[in-house]
Amino acid sequence: MKKTILVTGGAGYIGAHTVAELIAQNYDVVIVDNLSVCDETLLLGIELLTKTKPSFYPIDCNDYKSLQNVFKLHNIDAVIHFAAFKAVGESTQKPLVYHYNNVGSLITLLRVMEEFNVKDFIFSSSCTVYGQPDTIPVTEDAPIKKAESPYGATKQICEQIIKDVTSQNVKAISLRYFNPIGAHPSAELGELPIGTPNNLVPFITQTAAGVRQQLTVFGTDYPTRDGSCIRDYIHVVDLAKAHVAALAYLLEQSSSTFLDIFNVGTGEGKTVLEVIEAFERANQITLTYTKGPRRPGDVIQVYADTTYISKKLNWKPEYTLEDALQHAWQWEKKIRKR
Ligand code: WQD
Repeated sequence: MKKTILVTGGAGYIGAHTVAELIAQNYDVVIVDNLSVCDETLLLGIELLTKTKPSFYPIDCNDYKSLQNVFKLHNIDAVIHFAAFKAVGESTQKPLVYHYNNVGSLITLLRVMEEFNVKDFIFSSSCTVYGQPDTIPVTEDAPIKKAESPYGATKQICEQIIKDVTSQNVKAISLRYFNPIGAHPSAELGELPIGTPNNLVPFITQTAAGVRQQLTVFGTDYPTRDGSCIRDYIHVVDLAKAHVAALAYLLEQSSSTFLDIFNVGTGEGKTVLEVIEAFERANQITLTYTKGPRRPGDVIQVYADTTYISKKLNWKPEYTLEDALQHAWQWEKKIRKR
C-alpha cells in the first residue's frame, strides 16, 4: 500500500525537488503551499519530470481549518514541513512576520497532526542554529549558539517545540541543512529567487546571465585560506534524497515517541572565491566580481561533520560542487529563455 506524504512548501525550491524524489520512490504526495514566495512554476516542473500531478492545495499552514480539510480528504501517513520564510536579512527587518509564519505554522500543523493522529514528522531546519560553531566541522551535538537573526531564532524555537512534542506521541527528525545549491539535472526544477537574490549561487548565475551587473564578494579579510567565508554547499538533489532516506528511517521506528537530528551537508567547506572559480571552471565562463566589505551577520566558516547521517541513514552526497554549479547555470539559462 502506497504511503501518502504531506509536503508543506512543496512548490518551493527544496520542497519541489523532494516531492520529485518521493514520487520516484513510489510515495503518494500531497502538497500545500500558500505561494507567498513562489508561483506554480515548480509544480509544473514536477509534473513534467515525474509524469505525476500531486494533489495541491494553495493554503497557508497557519490556517487551521484549511489544513484540517486536507487531512480530512487524504489519509496522511507522514509530513515533511518546508513551508517557512528563510531570508536572513529580511528577517531582521520583519521579525514578527518571521515568527508568526515560521513558528505559528509549525504549531498549527502539529495541532492538526495531533487531531488526526498523524505521528511522523520531518522538519526543515538549518545550520544557522549553530551560529559560529566553536569546532569545525560541526557535529549535531555542538552547542546551539545565540541566533544571529530572527530567522535563525525561529529555527531554534521550532526545534525546541519539536523536542517538546516528541514526548507526546510524535516521531520527528530535524534536518539541519547547510547551503543548498544547484538545480535538477533535467533543468525542470531549480531555484526561482524573487527580486535580488540573497544567496551566493543565484547571484553568480544571474551575474553570468547579465541580469546582475556586479557580483560582490562580501569580505576577503576573514581568517580563512583566501580571506573569504567558508560554507558547505550541498546539491539540492542530494538534499532532497536525504529527506527520502530520513523518511524511510523514521517510518521504520516502532517507538511511539522518537526524535533524531541530522546535519545535511557534504562535509567539505568551500570559500566564496573557490565557488566562483568552480563556477568558471565548470561552465567555461569568466566572471567579474568586486571585493566588498563584510556582510553583517555572516559567520566566518561553517561546514558539516556528516559522520552521523552517513552512518544512520546510509546517505552520502553524490554530486560535486562543479555538478551543482553546472546544473545551476543550465537552469538559469533555461528560465532566461522564458
Ligand atoms: C554564502 C556566502 C556571503 C552573496 C543562508 C542562510 C542559511 C541557509 C543557507 C536556509 C556568505 C557570500 C553571498 C553575494 C557573497 N538557508 N556572498 N556575495 O548566508 O551562508 O546561508 O543560506 O536554511 O540559513 O543563512 O548563504 O548564499 O547568502 O552566503 O559574497 O552576492 O556567500 O557573504 O559568506 P548563507 P549565502
